[in-house]
Amino acid sequence: MTERVLTGITTTGTPHLGNYVGAIRPAIAASREAGVESFFFLADYHALIKCDDPERIARSRLEIAACWLAAGLDTERVTFYRQSDIPETTELNWLLTCVTAKGQMNRAHAYKASVDANEAAGEEPDANITMGLFCYPILMAADILLFNAHRVPVGRDQVQHIEMARDVALRFNHTFGRGRELFVLPQAEIEESVATLPGLDGRKMSKSYDNTVPLFEGGPKALKDAIARVNTDSRLPGEPKDPDNAHLVTIHDAFADAATRQAFHADLRGGLGWGDAKQRVVQLIEGHVGPMRERYADLMAHPERIEDILQAGAAKARATATPFLAELRDAVGLRRMLAVPQAHTAKAPTAKSDVPVFKQYREADGQFYFKLTAADGTLLLQSQAFAQGREAGEWVKRFKQEGGPVLDGAPVAIAEGVGRTVVDAALAALVAAQE
Ligand code: TRP
Repeated sequence: MTERVLTGITTTGTPHLGNYVGAIRPAIAASREAGVESFFFLADYHALIKCDDPERIARSRLEIAACWLAAGLDTERVTFYRQSDIPETTELNWLLTCVTAKGQMNRAHAYKASVDANEAAGEEPDANITMGLFCYPILMAADILLFNAHRVPVGRDQVQHIEMARDVALRFNHTFGRGRELFVLPQAEIEESVATLPGLDGRKMSKSYDNTVPLFEGGPKALKDAIARVNTDSRLPGEPKDPDNAHLVTIHDAFADAATRQAFHADLRGGLGWGDAKQRVVQLIEGHVGPMRERYADLMAHPERIEDILQAGAAKARATATPFLAELRDAVGLRRMLAVPQAHTAKAPTAKSDVPVFKQYREADGQFYFKLTAADGTLLLQSQAFAQGREAGEWVKRFKQEGGPVLDGAPVAIAEGVGRTVVDAALAALVAAQE
């Protein structure tokens, strides 16, 4: 069985080296594994919760898409799209909102942190908190459940959200599934083996600490300047250094193979100066990032190419999402209004004998015919004659798949004394029985 892996990237800010090592690179590597179907998307609806600057949102969507593509994402293999191009996401968001307990959202870490900050500042608990922030986990559950993802690679701070998505899925399955698992229960996946890159000051590399190394922006010079600012101890060239206790080494090792790592560690122990060591780190990273930066610049100069790729991704995603959402709407009772025979309103047909039947047959005239009879044997539809049995068969097949609407223009007559609504209802029951 192929496993579905799905993750979203919030489109605020510009990717830095830490995002590349911690998220982009491992996700692309995982997407190349056999037996995996990957869905990666730009979580631009989520970005609106954190940012109300339209220019920044637009710019960040473009930059992040360009980064992933430049880093080697294979969009033939992976479904790569924008959340806001999938209207089914917001529809599902509402269906899920209606089964989500408010108390559970009260307990979401991100919301609680904002309330705590307000209280500490002597403000109203909900000051400046939007419903977007409060309902953030439900939108995230919609992202995940819409594609029935099995695995969701995320950072540690997102694990609670995946647990909430599981919970909502369970409740929805229980309430509307009638014994069927409408949603797969997703599992959070935290890559223990993936390095968390330290920033210039040794804390986790993050925009909020202002300690990042740019991935592409600013070219080789910005990379060189940033690495020059990485904190090191004050040992002089010639003095032995401890490679196990240096952020610079952690950054180096995230890009080096085993032999290069060993050589670097040995040279530091042997007295390599920090200045020379930094030069080596810059060269190593530039070897990886340089070719990607060229692809990045090329893509940024042609945003219309990125747009085309994302549009194709949305079409691919919706091929799954649209029929699934139709099923979910049906499950909650948002259905087309078709006449349903009284006998069927109480319970859905259980036995074959409850369902009307099509019969195909050949008359003495050598011609082919079909007819539809109700469960109790009443004749409902009678076809005209066909020269070919195959033709009659094709009409029957269409009726079974599409039901009542096929009647208009079909070479059949409704039996005398039978109303169109009765025939429509019988055909609807037949269509339902096929599923
Ligand atoms: N909230 C996630 C983050 O900030 C991004 C995200 C949105 C996401 N929807 C998702 C991640 C669905 C995984 C699955 O990192």
